[in-house]
Amino acid sequence: MTRNDRTTPRTARVLGSLLLVAAAGAFTLGAAPAPPEGPVTPLSQVVPAPASVTPGGAPYRLTRATAVRVDGSAEVRRVGGYLAGILRPSTGYPLPLTEHGAGGIRLHLEKGDFGAEGYRLRSGPTGVTLTASAPAGLFHGVQTLRQLLPAAVEKRTVQHQDWRIAGGTVEDRPRYAYRGAMLDVSRHFFTVAQVERYIDELALYKVNELHLHLSDDQGWRIAINSWPRLAGYGGASEVGGGKGGFYTQAEYRHLVSYAAARYVEVVPEIDMPGHTNAALASYAKLNCDGVAPPRYTGTEVGFSSLCVSKDVTYTFVDDVIRELAALTPGRYLHIGGDEAHSTSHADYVTFMDRVQPIVAKYGKKIIGWHQLTGAHPAKGALAQYWGLDSTSAAEKEQVAQAARNGTGLILSPADRVYLDMKYTKDTPLGLSWAGLVEVRRSYDWDPGAYLAGVPASAVKGVEAPLWSETLKTSADIDYMAFPRLPGAAELGWSPAATHDWDTYKVRLAAQGPRWDALGIGYYHSPQVPWPSG
Ligand code: ACM
Repeated sequence: MTRNDRTTPRTARVLGSLLLVAAAGAFTLGAAPAPPEGPVTPLSQVVPAPASVTPGGAPYRLTRATAVRVDGSAEVRRVGGYLAGILRPSTGYPLPLTEHGAGGIRLHLEKGDFGAEGYRLRSGPTGVTLTASAPAGLFHGVQTLRQLLPAAVEKRTVQHQDWRIAGGTVEDRPRYAYRGAMLDVSRHFFTVAQVERYIDELALYKVNELHLHLSDDQGWRIAINSWPRLAGYGGASEVGGGKGGFYTQAEYRHLVSYAAARYVEVVPEIDMPGHTNAALASYAKLNCDGVAPPRYTGTEVGFSSLCVSKDVTYTFVDDVIRELAALTPGRYLHIGGDEAHSTSHADYVTFMDRVQPIVAKYGKKIIGWHQLTGAHPAKGALAQYWGLDSTSAAEKEQVAQAARNGTGLILSPADRVYLDMKYTKDTPLGLSWAGLVEVRRSYDWDPGAYLAGVPASAVKGVEAPLWSETLKTSADIDYMAFPRLPGAAELGWSPAATHDWDTYKVRLAAQGPRWDALGIGYYHSPQVPWPSG
């Protein structure tokens, strides 16, 4: 459809109701009414806070004539298509992708000092240019651009709005390379569509790692061809006795590519040697006594263990890791290792000494929960710290010592960024074993200085886990993740120098209308000055 094809029927309609229009005094013949000119979002009003913002000059106004100008590469064109896909429904503008012309929104790759994920956004009256040295940087720049437009841009129907982007320059790059979120799909199973929705929410805040907790006592969620009962039997349960579910290998591959198209890497976790009742229930031979326990639908932890002394255990682990590694283009494979309360310490160490080389053999980097630091973390392994302020000094020191010896850390302190912790005692969902975690507490800590005795260079990033004992729907996920997830994302992305609760809470509040437009129901924390209306 050409521009004229689109405008002709409107002109005819206007002529046909000339009297009415004249009486209303709102239209000039054949022209759209001017949209209300609201305030322009300041360049700094973005979550995560950009590294550097230089406001100045007149804004750019998106119009029916705006094109999305992309460099020749297919990947830049794809990022441009993603941007246009967000902007077209709400603006109603055609926003064609083109390699020609001037002005408009330009996505441009060039060699420069942007790093793997950084970008520059320049906005002025003739256009907006995003520049990066890799497509991931352009994608993150697109998220910034999106947040600079009115929240109504997120709606999927045409909105009558003034689509302006403030003038100036944003130069941005992440503090940490690993900015993660974990979704527990074991305690309750979440469908492919539900996981896709969460991936879209992560991308908006420049989160680049999705850790999928694929196995636990209550359910095994990934089809393993060499051990079909894991998913076929061990997948058919969940907390509370629901039917559970699992991802076929094709579905898992789809999720991996859906995430990759949003520059999110999937980190699959098979938790072991504890948290393994679903596997033990599926195959009697994995149990030391050769007897399969029943499937489990409760919420206790620490009662299950793979049989460390049996060779079949390592055949099982090798097969699972081989298949999962083949399905996963990402660099990491998470082997759990938490709460192995039914495994002796000696067995735990023996198990981890045998399993870590299997992960390496299949070409993946190891991530384990921080209890791995009590064994012998392999060279290059990352430990995911999930302790609390109140965790013993000895346990913290064990982690710090591993960090000084070269083990990288991902920080997920449970009394800060476990998104399943209740906000207050009245929060209807979630747990409280790590405490009540309001929005300010969740945001107000520094990953670089969090654990005493840890060199800053050992901290590889921040991850916000979301455990699903109490969560069944996307609405449940949204309510616990928002507004804390953007804070964890900011801790991972933004320079420490930008950290300030008083300015953060204002930027966070400005996200509320965007979540409303996206259909994300969130906790209206009284700590945050949400806009009224
Ligand atoms: C954990 O919360 N058990 C890692």
